[in-house]
Order: sequence, then C-alpha cells, then structure tokens
Amino acid sequence: MLKLGVNVDHVATLRQARKGNSPDPVGVALICEKAGADGITAHLREDRRHIQDDDMRRLASTVKRLNMEMAVTDEMVGIAVRLRPHSCCLVPEKREELTTEGGLDAAGSFGHLKDSVARLMAAGIVVSIFIDPDFRQIEFAAKSGAEFIELHTGTYANSSGEKAQKEVERLAESAEFAKSLGLEVNAGHGIDYLNIDGILRIPHLVELNIGYSIICRSVFTGIGPAVSEMLGLMRKTRHGH
Ligand code: PXP
Repeated sequence: MLKLGVNVDHVATLRQARKGNSPDPVGVALICEKAGADGITAHLREDRRHIQDDDMRRLASTVKRLNMEMAVTDEMVGIAVRLRPHSCCLVPEKREELTTEGGLDAAGSFGHLKDSVARLMAAGIVVSIFIDPDFRQIEFAAKSGAEFIELHTGTYANSSGEKAQKEVERLAESAEFAKSLGLEVNAGHGIDYLNIDGILRIPHLVELNIGYSIICRSVFTGIGPAVSEMLGLMRKTRHGH
C-alpha cells in the first residue's frame, strides 16, 4: 500500500514566527502517526529557518520512522550519522529560495554525492535522492548507490490542463525507468488534496511526502483529520483505478 510521510517543517515555521515553544513539531508528528501516517519528514536547513537541531534530535528519538531531508554537506551528513534517522532524502538547498526549487543535480555533483551516500548507508540509513523526472539524473542517482529516488512533483503541481497531463506522463516514464535500474521510487513536493489524482497515476510509487497542504488544512480541521483525509484520498483513488 502506498505510504504517506508527513512533512512537519511548517509547524516549526509557525513556531519560529515568535521563536517560542509552540506549536511543537514533535507533538504534531505524534498525532500524525496516530492518524495513520507511515512516516514523518523534516528538513534541517542550513539556515535553520524552521526545524532546529533540537527538533531533529527529539524527532529521531520519538517518531517511529523519521525521514531527514538535508543538503549534501559534511555538516548534515555528520548530524544524520549521529542521529540515525530511518532515511535521509538528499535535496539541493539555496538560501534565497522559499522552498526546495528543483531536484538535486546528481550528475553535476556526482563525486561528493557518491561519498555522502556511502557514509549514510554505512550508518544503516536508507538514502533517497530528490531529483527532477529526468533520465540522466535518474541514471546518476542509480550510480550513486542510493536505494531510492524521490521524484520532484513541483512542476506537475504548478501546472494545469494539458501541461499537467504531460507532466504526469513524464513522471510515469521516469518512475518506469528508475524501476528498471533497480531504484525504488517516492514522490513529493506541492502535492495537495486536488492534484493527488494525477500523482496516483504514476506507477511503482512507494511513498508520498506531503507537507504544506496538510499543515494548511490542519488550521481548519486539526492535524489528525487533515492526515486522515489525505490517506483516504490516497486509498480511494488507487482502488478506483
Ligand atoms: N519532498 C521534498 C524533497 C521536499 O523538499 C519537500 C518540501 O520540503 C516536500 C517533499 C514536501 O513538499 P510540500 O511541503 O510542498 O508538500
């Protein structure tokens, strides 16, 4: 069954607005798990704009299955090796960006990427590489030794009509190609309660990582119902196809 990882970064974004203790992303993560989320994702950014080191430490020792999103830097690899989350998702990071823009250039940064993947895997961490649905990037991700890729769904999420259809096809072909190279496939970025329909047409998906839309919905419904509603859509639509 397709898994859901809930990204709790934006709970920390809200807390950082006043630099206090509330709302606590760890408390929210535990409610997400209770509501049926299969995993919790959090991104420790180099500028610490939302998740803080102490959040990551507490998440690692509290939640059942933590996916740490991180840039491919020695500092982050060191933190991950110490905390030993279930998995790490390697992402590109630019200080000016509002959120992760585009996938990692696995081809352009191959040497450093391969070393970092090896260090993480030696610590028993499952490694995923966040990349655009691009065959060349997928080839380099496979060569890096990582077990998973996470397909960047942002372009699909930001388009509509024919363009969105084309993007789903590109994502589907990429998932097929990745699978043929022995990679497991996750997807994430910009997935919401409406556009998830198209996402569910992509074959071979193991897990979706969803943050912003669920945290936004939780302002109206509470976090448990927001997670349950997404899980319901993931299951209903899959069965309907
Ligand atoms: N996957 C990755 C690799 C991301 O960087 C993000 C954003 O932090 C997400 C998934 C979740 O995206 P969103 O918050 O748009 O659902």
